This record gives sequence, C-alpha cells and structure tokens, in this order.
Amino acid sequence: MSRPKVLLTRRIPSSASATLEASCDVDRNDGAQLSPDQLKARLKDKEGVVCLMTDAMTAEVMDAAPRLKVIANVAVGYNNIDVPAAQARGIVVTNTPDVLTEATADLAWALIMDITRRVTEGDRLIRRGAWKGWALDFMLGNELRGKTLGIIGFGRIGQAVAARAVPFGMRVIHSDAQTVPGSGAIPVDRLLATADVVSIHCPLTPETRHMINQAALARMKRSAYLINTSRGPVVDEAALAWALKNGIISGAGLDVYEEEPAVHPDLLTLENVVLAPHLGSATTETRTAMADLAVRNAIAVLTGQSPLTPVS
Ligand code: DGY
Repeated sequence: MSRPKVLLTRRIPSSASATLEASCDVDRNDGAQLSPDQLKARLKDKEGVVCLMTDAMTAEVMDAAPRLKVIANVAVGYNNIDVPAAQARGIVVTNTPDVLTEATADLAWALIMDITRRVTEGDRLIRRGAWKGWALDFMLGNELRGKTLGIIGFGRIGQAVAARAVPFGMRVIHSDAQTVPGSGAIPVDRLLATADVVSIHCPLTPETRHMINQAALARMKRSAYLINTSRGPVVDEAALAWALKNGIISGAGLDVYEEEPAVHPDLLTLENVVLAPHLGSATTETRTAMADLAVRNAIAVLTGQSPLTPVS
C-alpha cells in the first residue's frame, strides 16, 4: 500500500519528524520559509501538510493541492489558515491546544514581572554604563499585591495566567470578546477601566482585530500595564506607542506584533515597553510536544482515524 505524502514546511524536533517519517513519505523543507508559490508547488501531490503559524494556508494554496486531506498546524492559534475554505474543500484543520498553555502563561507572567519591576530597562541602563549606584528612589517599579489583573479571553491560557495571580495576591477579573451571561465575565470596557494589569489571551478574529485601539487605551488607568501574548493585530501598535509616549498607560509587555518580525519603530525607542520575540510557547519541552501533537493529528487523519485536536 502506498504511504501518504506529507509536506513538512519547516524543521521540527527530530522525534516528531521521525514519527511522521515512520508512516508517511515526507517532503521536508529544512531551509528558509517557503513562499506561497513554493508552498503551492510542493503541495501539488500531497495529502497532508504539517505547517507553522508563519505559513499562510489560503484558499489559493488549497486549490493548488487537490489531494490535501489535513492541515496540521504546529500552533494553537490558526489565523494563518482559512478554515472556512478548508472546510468547504473537506480538508481537516488541526491545532495544538493544551500542550502550550503553561509555557505561554509563564511567559505572560515573565512580561508582567519584567515591566512592573523594570528589569529589562535596568539591564539596558547597566549595559550603556549609566548605572551610578544604589539609591533609595532609583528605578522604582510597582507592586502587584492587592492590585487587579484583568484578563481578556478567559480560555485555557487566560485561566492559567489567572491561576498564577493568586500567590501574587492579585484579584482577577475577566472578559471575553463576547460576554456570555452567567460566565462571570465583565464587559471589556469595564475591565479596561478597572484593571491594574490587562493581559490579552483572546484569538485574533475580525472582531478582536485592533480591539485595543486609542479609545480602549484611553479607558485604562494611567498607572496600568498592558500585556499581549496572543496575536499582534489585537493591539493597534501605533495607538499603543502613542499611549506609552504620552503617559496614557504606564507600560507594556509584548510578545506578539502586527507585522512580525517588524515592530512599530516608535516602540523601539521607548523605555516603558518590554519586547519579546514571540516566545510564548518557546521551551524545548513545549515546542516538542506541539510538533508531536501536530504530527499525530496528521497521521490520524491520513490513516482514517479522528484527529486528536481538530479546529471546529
Ligand atoms: C501559538 O501556538 O499560537 C503560538 O503563538 C506559537 O506558539
């Protein structure tokens, strides 16, 4: 019996690629990211693709792959995939929920701690030789105890971030993009006006694109901090740079950007923002688990079984 043909768009941990190679004929791209045309050419004869969030799986790409049965994304977010187009073509889409929850929640907290206690700002100051020594009023930050953490998007990751707030003595409030009555969620506007730290964990959808714009930032406390580890376009970066420059909010911690890997130039000049290069799930353990789950999803579909974690 012939083995299913699968495209692996980028290098993944060797244990996961070995699992894929054990049951499929794998066309591996170990080089730079494939362009849309290269993607289309390599998918022509494929039944499956294991791809990353940087691969745009558009309707046009799918049309170039008439045999395609499964798109297994190595990410929990799947805004890189036109899911309705896949569904219309009978292609199963899978993602990697759960396995990255704790790592991403940890990174959100790393940003919260960093920006409120000015760790990276202090690192920059030392490196440029500007530290003149200890002083009672030098580089004061803000404490979290007794403050309110506002979480926008109370799914798996949002809840894991909330759980970490308890030992820090923070009160937690939360909102969802659409407030569900009885869920304990409050409207986003109220959350923005109340929280001392706002952390974003909702998916990128047409409704959440630029949800945090100038008007939203103006609703926040001047002493508040904004953290984003979800998707860059949820925040209007130009508006955020304006808010940080003008003291509309106190600071921000970002892991994601509107046009990755580009970052709004104004943000690069500001001291009151910490910039991480999309590291939410970037631990060896988690990235291995994500790749493993994506591969198992692809194999399941290609061997006639139900996918483990389908996108519905
Ligand atoms: C995801 O999985 O959606 C992250 O952003 C990448 O790990």
